[in-house]
Amino acid sequence: MCGIVGYIGYKQAASFLLDGMSKLEYRGYDSAGVAVMENGRIRVDKCVGRLDALRQKLAGRMPVGTMGIGHTRWATHGRPSDRNAHPHTDPSGNFVVVHNGIIENYLSIKEELLAKGHCFLSETDTEVVAHLMADLYDGDFESTVKKVLQRIKGSYSLVFMCQMEPDKIICTKKDNPLIIGLGEGENYIASDIPAIINETRRTFIMSDGEIATVTADSVWVQDINGVPISKKVFEVSWNAEAAEKGGFEHFMLKEIYEQPKSMRDTMTGRVDAEALCIKFPELNWSPEEMAAVDRIFIVACGTAYHAGIVGKYYLEQLAKVPVEVDIASEFRYRHPLVDGNSLCIVISQSGETSDTLAALREAKRLGARTLAVTNVVGSSIARDADQVVYTYAGPEIAVASTKAYTTQLLAMLMFAIYIGRLRESLPEEKAKELVKGLTLIPEQIHQMLENVDQIKVFARKYGSCEDAFFIGRSLDYAVALEGALKLKEISYIHAEAYAAGELKHGTLALIVEGVPVIVLATQEDVYDKTVSNLQEVKAREAVVIAMGFVGDENLAKYADHVIYIPRTGKYLAPLLAVLPLQLLAYYAALTRGCDVDKPRNLAKSVTVE
Ligand code: AGP
Repeated sequence: MCGIVGYIGYKQAASFLLDGMSKLEYRGYDSAGVAVMENGRIRVDKCVGRLDALRQKLAGRMPVGTMGIGHTRWATHGRPSDRNAHPHTDPSGNFVVVHNGIIENYLSIKEELLAKGHCFLSETDTEVVAHLMADLYDGDFESTVKKVLQRIKGSYSLVFMCQMEPDKIICTKKDNPLIIGLGEGENYIASDIPAIINETRRTFIMSDGEIATVTADSVWVQDINGVPISKKVFEVSWNAEAAEKGGFEHFMLKEIYEQPKSMRDTMTGRVDAEALCIKFPELNWSPEEMAAVDRIFIVACGTAYHAGIVGKYYLEQLAKVPVEVDIASEFRYRHPLVDGNSLCIVISQSGETSDTLAALREAKRLGARTLAVTNVVGSSIARDADQVVYTYAGPEIAVASTKAYTTQLLAMLMFAIYIGRLRESLPEEKAKELVKGLTLIPEQIHQMLENVDQIKVFARKYGSCEDAFFIGRSLDYAVALEGALKLKEISYIHAEAYAAGELKHGTLALIVEGVPVIVLATQEDVYDKTVSNLQEVKAREAVVIAMGFVGDENLAKYADHVIYIPRTGKYLAPLLAVLPLQLLAYYAALTRGCDVDKPRNLAKSVTVE
């Protein structure tokens, strides 16, 4: 939920810290701060607001020093304010800490420290950690950190500095991401790769419970008991601009246009275009193990949850396995009937969503085999799941997920075909037809992105509306859910998705003259009924934007506008149908002057429950 950076070396720390934080603002941006070791003393500068507010505060008085840490915040405990911004210190200023996550037992520790006479300046859980450092300090920085870690409970990435040992930074993590970038005579610390990618591609991906002591020339990793841990260098394959905007006005538009590539990359090594079959070399479950699965649970949040709903159709209809789909924050509280014959698939772009991570751990506790579908190599969810199918969408920076969603759909479809063949519930010919259709998708998406003028017109024409409805049946309804979320989360238009057949049971009361209704009509087996629902809303004077396949002359008879997508099979249609909805949301947000990449109240990676 927050962005952390650290630097130790021979250059001025502040410039890297600010630059690195700018690459992590998507992780949270309600306040920011830096701490730099300046002439033997730790100097802290922080303030509420975006990173620019901190830059302005530092203008003309940048901290001077070659070691420092920085933080961009998304509020969890304590509202966004100067005092609640990180870094946090103990009263003496000898200890400084930045933190991502939640210290669940901070209140009891705070009471204990208050009784000892500590005074706190902020409402945060993080400040308690700085005070605890001071309270437990035994003359040794490393051993004090270990003592603190034995006291605190919760989820965290923590990065510490200590005035008495000004030549090292110590960092550790549990359930939140943290990486170390390896340089020559300098080293970097960050929550995520984009912050360091311009400095180095050689990284250590920290694992839970590891404690790293980072100096300019060394990185020493150990566990809480002091047992040394040797880390494998992870070479980042992304090039620098991959994490930048690449010439587009916003990350979101760049990421929408990256979908032909992200689809191809996610197919690579899995789609055999010659044999027209699917392989998952990374999976090592045997056919017998897969055949033994009698129920699949798909668990995720937000857009990933919508991908899970599509995945349910795929797995049930192609692999003939019963599937339950849950919103992660609901999953463990409904006491799901998960057992050793269950497969739990968690979908998460960031691989750090706390609700999804918690659901994954619950499914494991109940005995399920677990599979993560995630976009971030080495993420917490990737490391906790038994097996992982990575989507290779590359860094997704915009808060609104686009290319991650379509690669998640692709991963679910490929997995359903794969499992369907393993379980002999999907005829080979049907599988070949699906795979052939898959190979055409990247180019079909490319074609669709070549001409988006019609979408721009709709966005300008209807972008001032305060309500919008997305309706469809079957897989069209599943995609409608994603279309509505895209529109509402970046344009702030109150958009709702509805099963087209359900409208007459209440929501039709909201369909009045001029309200835009997007009707998805790509599913042949429910097409006629969908057209009837289209006429239902038209009869109430709604403005209807229909979506159907090229060549469908019927929709134009009833709809005010029609968006045509390339003709493809029913199961592949979601991979294409979502494109116009992503673009509609993007251009509507522009029309309304919204901050497309960083919508209000939201953050890219929700690492609090
Ligand atoms: C998607 O546009 C939203 N930003 C949000 O719903 C997101 O999909 C959700 O928070 C899940 O994130 P994850 O895929 O990283 O777990």
